[in-house]
Amino acid sequence: MAKKALITGITGQDGYHLANLLNEKGYEVYGIIRGQHNPKRERLEKEQPFVKIIEADLVDQSSLVRALQTAQPDEVYNLGAISHVGYSFKNPQLTADVTGKGTLNMLEAIRAVGGEKTIRFYQASTSEMFGGLDYNRPGEGYNEDSLFHPRSPYGVAKLYAHWITKNYRESYGIHASCGILFNHEGERRGVEFVTRKISNAVARIKLGKQDHIELGNLDPKRDWGYAGDYVEGMWLMLQQDKPGDYVLATGETHTIGEFLDLAFKEIGIEDWKPYVKENPDFMRPAEVDILLGDPTKAETVLGWKRKVDFPSLVKLMVAHDLELEASGEVLK
Ligand code: NAP
Ligand code: GDD
Repeated sequence: MAKKALITGITGQDGYHLANLLNEKGYEVYGIIRGQHNPKRERLEKEQPFVKIIEADLVDQSSLVRALQTAQPDEVYNLGAISHVGYSFKNPQLTADVTGKGTLNMLEAIRAVGGEKTIRFYQASTSEMFGGLDYNRPGEGYNEDSLFHPRSPYGVAKLYAHWITKNYRESYGIHASCGILFNHEGERRGVEFVTRKISNAVARIKLGKQDHIELGNLDPKRDWGYAGDYVEGMWLMLQQDKPGDYVLATGETHTIGEFLDLAFKEIGIEDWKPYVKENPDFMRPAEVDILLGDPTKAETVLGWKRKVDFPSLVKLMVAHDLELEASGEVLK
């Protein structure tokens, strides 16, 4: 019998990669789509016709119960969230409801269908929970034992989701694991995130469709990996005999300026400064200055290791956007 997986956030970046991975592994893949006319549904149906779509919403627990009854999954991957840090400052309550309490709703739905002993659960935790403050293993990278100090409504909501997942593991014996993932990017990254915003703008500048890019703070450092590598780690967590929490990261950190350097070099521009304007609209009330992860536990226990390095990541994103923009296809 094929294993069955239910993915929330199927229309997001990670949902796309994870659905492909599970399909390749022979899973029956179910994906939750929200909204009465979600524009991303058509793309999903076209690109990943193997996904069985279920309409539900993380804020509506009864819809999650019905989703579980329909899919009868062996594994649930909870990727759905308000995931944009800047947006979470503007919509903190919605972020708490979806990103925080949405996880509780799914865990309670698992209990409601009696799935505590049969369903394995993955929670998409995040390096944003650490907050980038340097009192915590300075220079070595955050690991599973580092202190949390979230710096945004998103980070705070994710920390609630992280702890409620651990609590349900300890209280009800659910095989529930949290992947504390550092930033991961790629050709499916939303254009509202800084890497894709840059790769897309660089492609448009090359093609004469745009003459500059407006960005916020260029100083923060991020531990950027490739999303395709990270979904493999999610799957590995649920294949372990025992549940646990794992950091997935590259162990390297780079500034946004370094991303700009490499991206503009791809189109033959050495000095990007004339093409970049500062726009305070993209600044955040509180910033996470540096994220650096230590993936030793995932490498040792799961045998996970990222494959795509930083220069290759930038290269693949710019190459993809050059092709996309040249084709005239609309960015979705
Ligand atoms: P993403 O591209 O922003 O996707 C978010 C997904 O959540 C979308 O499919 C979205 O649906 C869905 N969603 C939003 N509100 C929902 C609701 N009320 N009910 C059900 N689904 C809802 O995010 P991602 O980059 O794939 O990340 C996946 C998960 O990992 C997220 O939880 C994110 O916070 C977390 N994470 C990401 C990273 C990273 O670097 N990418 C790092 C650490 C953790 P619509 O398409 O309909 O909006
Ligand atoms: N989005 C965005 N847009 N960010 C900008 C911009 C801009 O125009 N200009 C500068 N930045 C800076 C942000 O202030 C932040 O320091 C950095 O670029 C990265 O921003 P994002 O790409 O939006 O990602 P993030 O690090 O805030 O959050 C992502 O990674 C988290 C894991 O650490 C998201 O995917 C989260 O969902 C994820 O949990």
